[in-house]
Amino acid sequence: MIELINVNKEYQDQHALDHLSLTINDGELFVLVGPSGSGKTTLLKTINRLVVPTSGQVKIDGKDVADTNVQELRREIGYVLQTGALFPNMTVAENASVQLDNLKWPVEKKRVRIAELMTAVGLDPDHFLGRMPSELSGGEAQRVGIVRALASKPGLVLMDEPFSALDPVSRRQLQQIVINLHQNLDSTIVFVTHDMHEALRLADRIAVVHDGRLQQVGTPTEILSEPANAFVSNFFADEQQTDQLLGQVLAAGFGRPVQPGDLGKKMVKGQSIFEWATTLQSSQLDQVIVDNKVLTDHDLIDYLASLETEGDSH
Ligand SMILES: Nc1ncnc2c1ncn2[C@@H]1O[C@H](COP(=O)(O)OP(=O)(O)O)[C@@H](O)[C@H]1O
Ligand SMILES: [Mg+2]
Repeated sequence: MIELINVNKEYQDQHALDHLSLTINDGELFVLVGPSGSGKTTLLKTINRLVVPTSGQVKIDGKDVADTNVQELRREIGYVLQTGALFPNMTVAENASVQLDNLKWPVEKKRVRIAELMTAVGLDPDHFLGRMPSELSGGEAQRVGIVRALASKPGLVLMDEPFSALDPVSRRQLQQIVINLHQNLDSTIVFVTHDMHEALRLADRIAVVHDGRLQQVGTPTEILSEPANAFVSNFFADEQQTDQLLGQVLAAGFGRPVQPGDLGKKMVKGQSIFEWATTLQSSQLDQVIVDNKVLTDHDLIDYLASLETEGDSH
């Protein structure tokens, strides 16, 4: 568990984090979202001590990171940056195994682990391990960055806008890779983005930050259905979605036919997706029934995410 307790970070002329408190549970895919300059990177870096708070505490499993040896701390924490940040003079294989070399993993064990992760992120080891970073596309470099961060099986992985510089198609592929990796590993992932669609698509829980202050923490459906304040509702209510109706969701191919025994609140095609989120929130069930189709909370998030790709592609 990660606890930020009243964390404050002041620069000479900037209040980057304003007495912010937050708890991230083990195994969560936790997304920190907010506009540029809101303090996301600063917050993330307090966790691996690249930033030292002016006041307040950051604890991992009850232990203050200020009392932990920095090398040991960072060894336990994977870190993925926006640019991939690969060493240009080293091959993909060398880049990917930097952490494992530090930990003195035996050659064969290292080779097996890297090959396994390369495959998991969709890079054929035979093709890619010998290449230099200059011979990779942006999306491929980010995949190698993920392999490097996960290689030593860290319990915690920090990702700072890792897909912001990618085209929409690569971004969606990599989002899916993160979702899959998270399901197959026990790692906690703290993922930073300024893109609310990305947040909704990935998160178990979302924290919204603005001006260094925490605005709201909740599941995607909680945040959509009960925004805590005007900032959150504006941030998540871009015009693409406000007039989206359930009928459009069904027309886009979401939903599956009702089976005998399916439970769910009945809704109609003319209701909006915000009403859908509110209904999911207020009922005990994670699905609704529209016409003869079942729509789950996953359909809602996937639908919102699909709007982004369409919006960006023209
Ligand atoms: N090293 C620094 N010195 C001075 N100001 C900084 C420094 N790092 C960040 N800031 C300021 O703190 C605020 C939050 O920055 P940052 O955490 O990078 O935001 P985000 O990642 O959400 O875009 C910004 O106003 C930024 O200019
Ligand atoms: Mg940042």
